[in-house]
Amino acid sequence: MTITCTKMASYMLVSFVVCGLFAPSALTSPTPLVIWHGMGDSCCNPLSMGSIKSMVEEQVKGIYVRSLEIGSNIIEDTENGFLMNVNKQVTMVCDKLAKDTKLANGYNAIGFSQGGQFLRAVAQRCPNPPMLNLISVGGQHQGVYGFPHCPGDNSTLCDYVRKLLNLGAYNSYVQSFLVQAEYWHDPLNEEEYKKASIFLADINQENVVNQTYKTNLMKLKKFVMVMFTEDTMVEPRESEWFGFYKPGSGTELQDLRNTTLYTEDRLGLKEMDSQGKLVFLTSDTDHLQFSKEWFTKNLIPYIKE
Ligand SMILES: *[C@@H]1O[C@H](CO)[C@@H](O)[C@H](O)[C@H]1NC(C)=O
Ligand SMILES: *[C@@H]1O[C@H](CO)[C@@H](O)[C@H](O)[C@H]1NC(C)=O
Ligand SMILES: *[C@@H]1O[C@H](CO)[C@@H](O)[C@H](O)[C@H]1NC(C)=O
Repeated sequence: MTITCTKMASYMLVSFVVCGLFAPSALTSPTPLVIWHGMGDSCCNPLSMGSIKSMVEEQVKGIYVRSLEIGSNIIEDTENGFLMNVNKQVTMVCDKLAKDTKLANGYNAIGFSQGGQFLRAVAQRCPNPPMLNLISVGGQHQGVYGFPHCPGDNSTLCDYVRKLLNLGAYNSYVQSFLVQAEYWHDPLNEEEYKKASIFLADINQENVVNQTYKTNLMKLKKFVMVMFTEDTMVEPRESEWFGFYKPGSGTELQDLRNTTLYTEDRLGLKEMDSQGKLVFLTSDTDHLQFSKEWFTKNLIPYIKE
């Protein structure tokens, strides 16, 4: 772009003026944004992700926003949030992002609820195109131990998930497809969790340290984590800041900085913390119940970067 302009400018004044008009906006065009919705939701619901997309577009002029659709329509997208193997979803998303030429120079990512930990997996597994800032809004980075409520309007799906979790979250059949089982974290059975969890135990380096995961995650400019202090949906809500129950306890909590994940720096989080790359934010509401003002004030700055 710059080269073309310089060349043209040497030919005639008119081109120079044209370049002067267009080049600056091309050079400063905003970083694209990728959105991954939460459980019970879909890419394009006008009341949820649709309104987030328009809010961002309104506040960051000219931004390209891609709200991920997992599947080929909204019904499939919603259903896959419960019933499609997360590792397959992440691979599918990596493929979509790699093929999207508008993201080639990098993108910011925002994940809502479980979309938060799924996008972290994308950052760890798929460094191209590069993710710049990762914003996790109520994501469960240490998993969940409980399934109190289920958002969305499909109670059939919720009841089904509950039944399967009761059957055994670490049952290999259930693990093979049930999303919520794949980030089920039983602090009273840490060993079983480490052995059986096909998604969370892997991205949290519970068994082995995959240096690639560490290197890739540390490439982020900022990793922003939002916790809902009145969350009644995520158990425990501290998981949204990478905290969790102490191993062996179903009541006592420990924060990220006290976990071995951090002290042994198995994922690079300690180093990122020392570089000021971890940002811990709160919204004093229930799960995902932030206001437009809160979003604008707290998250738009990381989207604009
Ligand atoms: C580490 O992660 C990368 C990226 O997903 C993968 O290609 C590689 O096989 C993993 N290595 C191990 C030892 O699991
Ligand atoms: C709820 O989900 C089930 C299973 O995917 C589906 O068969 C049913 O049509 C859905 N109901 C509504 C109201 O979307
Ligand atoms: C973390 O560890 C410190 C020092 O051992 C301790 O004082 C603190 O209470 C712990 N906090 C949490 C939330 O685990």
